[in-house]
Formats: sequence, C-alpha cells, structure tokens
Amino acid sequence: MTKALIAAALLAALSLPAAAQQTQVNIICSVQADWCNMIQTVFAKSTGIKVNMSLKGSGEALAQLIAEKANPKTDVWFGGTGDPHLQAAEQDLTMEYKSASLPQLHAWAQQQAQQSGWKTVGIYSGPLGFGYNTELLAKKKMAVPRSWADLLKPEYKGEIQVANPASSGTAYTMVATLVQLMGEDKAFDYMKALHKNIGAYTRSGTGPIKAVARGETAVSISFVHDGPGEKMQGFPVETVTPSEGTGAEIGSMSIVKGARNLDAAKRFYEWALTAQAQQFGAATKQFQLPSNKATPVDPNVPDFKKIKFINYDYAKYGSSAERRRLIAKWEKEVNSLPK
Ligand code: F6P
Repeated sequence: MTKALIAAALLAALSLPAAAQQTQVNIICSVQADWCNMIQTVFAKSTGIKVNMSLKGSGEALAQLIAEKANPKTDVWFGGTGDPHLQAAEQDLTMEYKSASLPQLHAWAQQQAQQSGWKTVGIYSGPLGFGYNTELLAKKKMAVPRSWADLLKPEYKGEIQVANPASSGTAYTMVATLVQLMGEDKAFDYMKALHKNIGAYTRSGTGPIKAVARGETAVSISFVHDGPGEKMQGFPVETVTPSEGTGAEIGSMSIVKGARNLDAAKRFYEWALTAQAQQFGAATKQFQLPSNKATPVDPNVPDFKKIKFINYDYAKYGSSAERRRLIAKWEKEVNSLPK
C-alpha cells in the first residue's frame, strides 16, 4: 500500500461517526465520591460508554488540566467550585461549547457560561458557612459561632478546620469572600488572626465538616450543603451562615480542550445538565441547589432567601491572575505564620 492509501484509510477511520468509536470518557469529578460513583454507573448503563473517573478537589483538578495541557487525558471536568473553572477557561484549557439546554438553567448558571465565553457552565450552587459539632460545643462549653468575628474568639483556639485554598475550591471561596466582604487588607489581617484558631488546614474542602461530624474538631468553614449528609449518617452536625454575609459557589462543568473522546464528552455533558441526572446529587445526600430549573429541590437544600449574601464577583475572583495572587499571598502571609 502506498503512503497516500494508508493516510486515506486512517482519515476514513477518523471520520467514522465518532460515537461508534467512543466507548469511554475520562472524567475528573470534584463532588463527593457517592455522587461521582452514581453518575459513573448510571451513565455507563444507559449509554454503554465506560466512565473512567478520578476524584479531585477543585484546585487539584485545575492543576491536573494545566499539567496535561499539551496532551490532555481528561475529557470532562464535572463539579468543583466555579472560580477555577473560569481560570481554566481563561487559560484556554477548556472548550467553548454552548448547550441547547442553557435556557433551562437558572440565571446564575447561564451567567457562569457567558462569563467564560461558553467554556464552562453552572451545574449547582451552594453557600459558604460554618459546620459545628453540637455535642462537642456543649461538652467544651463553647458557643455556636454565628459570625466571621466569632471565629476569632480565643475559645476556638485549635478548634477550627478549613481547607487549603491551593487545593480546595471551598477554601478559595472563603478567601475571596473575605476579601470582598472586608477589603483585602482587613481580610488578610482577619485570616492571620484566624490562623491562631485553626487546628488544621486540610487538602479537601469537605475534610473539615467530616472532621466536625466525627468529633475531631468543633467547627469547620464549609459549604453548608455538605452538613445535612453528615447529619443523616447520625453525626451531631449543624450548620450556620455568618451574620456579616457570605459567598456562594457556582459549581461548574467544563469540556477539556483537545478532549480525545469529544462526542462521548458532549453526551455526558448534555446528560449532566438534565433535571434527571441532576437529581443524583440529593439522591447521594449532597444538597447543592441544582442548576436545571426543573430539578426537584430537596428540602435539605439550604434556603438561599434566608441567607445574607455578598455580591460575589465571579469574573474577578475566577480570573487566573487574581486567583493565583490571592493563593500565593495566603501561603506567604497566613499559612507560613507560626500558630
Ligand atoms: O462536593 C462537595 C463540595 O462542597 C462541592 O459543592 C464543591 O464544589 C466541592 O466540594 C469543592 O471541593 P474542594 O473544596 O475540595 O475543591
């Protein structure tokens, strides 16, 4: 066979209907394991497409996409806070894709898509707050913290956990929220003071509320939608949002630029935006507010109307320069301090 024939045969193979060739899709999943496992199983069962799933925090997922840029192994990044998805869009790591179902989504989810140049989309939202162990607080005679200011009280020394903002989108949401709420100088003074009360900075954003649930620490800075699932397992956990105001995440989903299994990726993406697929959050005891307006809202989903929110500037705090700068500043000025 001549070279030209071989090339033509290869081209013909490549132009075959891709869905027929694509029997798998590689997904980074940044929600909790039960939800990831559920969508992995259901999507595979209903489409015959095998899902290779790896679980990673939002900051770690972004780091992986950056590392894979020249040779992407991931097709879809599902879940995780919106800021690093916006950063991925800006760094051209993800692909422009405008789903026909965008009008079925809440305005905040569509806005996330629009702000990224259609390279990401909102799949859920949830407010930042505190988790606390009711039994441990009672035993140690500590009050329930109701404000950011309360967390600085000496009684909480060593009793608070939050994640590290480099690996965790939850913790970066905290940094960005405080900067917007207090102004940057005051926010960093605040985080330096808070540092004295922090027992541990965890890698994963949900680590602290799990530690609260198991009585390993009294208080966590967490998304409040991660509380009810722990409580349903029988742990003495409650959540509260700070009286001064708080931020919310727009949990997002993106298709990786250069995805090898693009058709399968698009199929998963479209499926993940349906009201049917979005019910797997609550079904696995994860209570973010789903982005599809037709998804039933579980009573455990936090009531946004009762929470005082800041006007979180997603475009600014999702920009790569700002996110990198704030994380580096936190490492240098906060994390390096002695306790
Ligand atoms: O899965 C729970 C959750 O709180 C999501 O709502 C959020 O997007 C994600 O964890 C963030 O995880 P991390 O802070 O580890 O990036």
